[in-house]
Order: sequence, then C-alpha cells, then structure tokens
Amino acid sequence: MVENTINLNYIPDVKTYYNQVGNKYSRFRKYFWSEARKFIDWTKTLYNTNSKSKFLDMGCGNGLYFQITTEYDSHGIDLSEKLIEISTKRYPYAKLKVGNVLETGYTDNEFDIVLTVGVFQHLTNQEQIKFIQETIRILNIGGCAFVSGMCDISDIPEINGLITFTNPLNYSGVLELIQTYQQNKIIEIIYIKKVQHSVIFLIKKI
Ligand SMILES: C[S@@+](CC[C@H](N)C(=O)[O-])C[C@H]1O[C@@H](n2cnc3c(N)ncnc32)[C@H](O)[C@@H]1O
Repeated sequence: MVENTINLNYIPDVKTYYNQVGNKYSRFRKYFWSEARKFIDWTKTLYNTNSKSKFLDMGCGNGLYFQITTEYDSHGIDLSEKLIEISTKRYPYAKLKVGNVLETGYTDNEFDIVLTVGVFQHLTNQEQIKFIQETIRILNIGGCAFVSGMCDISDIPEINGLITFTNPLNYSGVLELIQTYQQNKIIEIIYIKKVQHSVIFLIKKI
C-alpha cells in the first residue's frame, strides 16, 4: 500500500497552510462539534472541577473549545503561529504554545483531559501512531482522551472554501495500537465510533 497517497486535497505543508488561511479558518470555525461538546460535558461529571483538572486541546486551532473549559486549567498546542496568535487573544486564560502534537514537550501523565478534533487527517499513518503514543504518554492515570479525525472524505473537495485533508485514512494502524494498549492494560477503550465523516477514539488511561 502506498503511504500517504497524494490526492487533489493534499496539503503539502500544514503549518504554512494554516498560517495562510488562519483568519478565514477562524471566522467560520465558531460552532462546537456536538460530539466534542458531549465529551467535555461528560468530563465535568467525572472530575472535581474545583481541583483545577488539567485540560489540553491538541491541535487547538482558534481555540473555540476553551470557551467551555473555563473551570479547567486549560492548555493548547498547535503548529500554526497564526492560529495560536488568534486563540491567545481570544482566550487569555488558556496556556497556549506553538508546537507539534507528535512531540509536545509536556511531561508524562500531565493532563486529565485531552481533546483533539480534526488533526488526524493531517498526519501520515506513521505520524498517527506517534500521535497516539504521545497522547497516552501525557495523559494522567484515570484521565480521558477524545481523539478524532476525518475519514472517508475523498469525495469532499473542500469545506467552507478550505481544503482540510492530507491523508486518505483507514486508521487500521491506530486501531491495532489502541487495542494493544488495551490488552496490556494501559488504557480502556470507552468507545470507537464513526460519526458522519469522522472517526472518534475515546480512551481512558488506567
Ligand atoms: C482542521 S483544524 C482543527 C482545529 C481545531 N481542533 C478545531 O476543531 O477547530 C486542524 C488543526 O491541527 C493543527 N495541526 C495539524 N498538524 C499538527 C501537528 N503535527 N501539530 C500540531 N498541530 C497540528 C493545524 O494547525 C490546525 O490548527
């Protein structure tokens, strides 16, 4: 199988792309995805929010979810300087940095809640594996991660005038890795589901 097959929607350089389209992207990206919102609401039933649980949005973009994580100690990381600049202005209470989700620089077990919406499709199959390993490394014991990305969208040439797709995914490597973590009792899989054009992995570190 050819890794990372190039198609019409291929973005050669994700960082440059989001720096260029940052303002436009940010203007249309203002509604919460109901699945991500449900996840965040659910975490609020699990954690004592007075203790300032640590929340991280990996690939936070314009940071829209920080609007509903104010009771958490909120952090975000994104490759795009432009999007981090926009989210820093909008959500000054969040601790944000420009960085790569594959090598975040955060410490082991640092975060109680990790959210990632729409990043997977920008990673090669090998990078997706690294991304899962990094997510599990920085997730606290007892912490939960919502990892999502688009799939099956080769028939969608653009979304809101923007191309957003790099890797025509099948997620089989990721699925295998997650199942191995589960067999080794490192994580529990809470659910894996496909919603419209996205796949969601909800996991808990044990
Ligand atoms: C489709 S956008 C989603 C943004 C945000 N999560 C949202 O829901 O609006 C994808 C984001 O992932 C970021 N991204 C892609 N690859 C990344 C990487 N390797 N490290 C950090 N951020 C990355 C992009 O810069 C962009 O902001």
